[in-house]
Amino acid sequence: MIRSALNKDIYILAIESSCDDTSAAVLHNDRVLSNVVANQEIHRAYGGVVPELASRAHQQNIVPVVDQALQRANIDKNQLSAIAFTQGPGLMGSLLVGTSFAKSLSLGLDIPLIDVHHMHAHILAHFIRDSEQSIPEFPFIALTISGGHTQIVLVKGYFDMEILGETIDDAVGEAYDKSAKMLGLPYPGGPLVDRYAREGNPEAYSFPKPKVDPLNFSFSGLKTAILYFLEQQQAQDPDFLSHAMNDVCASIQKTIVDYLMEKLDNVVAQTGVNRIAIGGGVSANSGIRAALAQAQTDRGWKTYVPKFAYCTDNAAMIGIVGYLKFLEGKQASHAIAAKSRLSF
Ligand code: KG4
Ligand code: ZN
Repeated sequence: MIRSALNKDIYILAIESSCDDTSAAVLHNDRVLSNVVANQEIHRAYGGVVPELASRAHQQNIVPVVDQALQRANIDKNQLSAIAFTQGPGLMGSLLVGTSFAKSLSLGLDIPLIDVHHMHAHILAHFIRDSEQSIPEFPFIALTISGGHTQIVLVKGYFDMEILGETIDDAVGEAYDKSAKMLGLPYPGGPLVDRYAREGNPEAYSFPKPKVDPLNFSFSGLKTAILYFLEQQQAQDPDFLSHAMNDVCASIQKTIVDYLMEKLDNVVAQTGVNRIAIGGGVSANSGIRAALAQAQTDRGWKTYVPKFAYCTDNAAMIGIVGYLKFLEGKQASHAIAAKSRLSF
């Protein structure tokens, strides 16, 4: 980091609108002054994110969310040094709302516009300075696990990252949510599976772990296995879930957590790097948190879990990347376009 620039007061307004959360944050250098997230409840009724409804909700939310972020940070828009926004990847209609808003505001205020890759942001969220959060040293391994992503990345520097593995089908959060749906739980069911799992026996049932390359993931087979398992059990006992819910959830959770830990074992063996930083909504999972804490003692790893607010989709993580890029003079032109697929 450029030390001289650290002495300056840099204020970044960041905007994130890649999926179904409209978020705006204000950072003063690498510290978060405000981080406002408007969740879109409308998708619950549909059991998943409906892209058209998401972009409409972003349209409604963006102005009040940005206003609130500025108010909570006690900052006037004229004090801002730059506007950072998520360029992609994500849902096109959603990204367009944040991108157009960020462009117009940067033009109106005549300040730099900074494009941010959503996946870089999940990783660089670890560099938000916060008393509760310790900052990893380079190089480290980032495991990003959410409803939209499952990636293992070797992070050699702020802007020097290499994807070592990723899912070939569903993301891990999707696997949680689809399993939950089959168990009759409302969307997003991941946190509920986690809650029931804590009361159950993880050894009660076993589900197969898909075989793919050592650093890649596959979750679609697990989904099918759970579907057949439930059909079989319910054919014999229609009330199966009313007494077996905790054990089924604990067994699903064990399968997923063991699978994630197996992949981390593989990447540590392959790279020799044992600093592991996780991010994404599934980092809230009690099973993965416990397994990582255990790995600090058993395997001597150093593990990093950001504050929950910086794990799920949020604009503070976009802001920290905006700040780091600002220090390096990396700006976007106003011709920049949102991209639903954006190379890493
Ligand atoms: O990062 P996020 O808020 O949004 C994106 O998908 O980008 O992650 C949401 C995902 C959902 O799939 C949700 O079910 C999952 O994270 N999730 C959990 C837990 N908390 C959130 N999955 C398992 N256990 C949890 N405690
Ligand atoms: Zn995300």
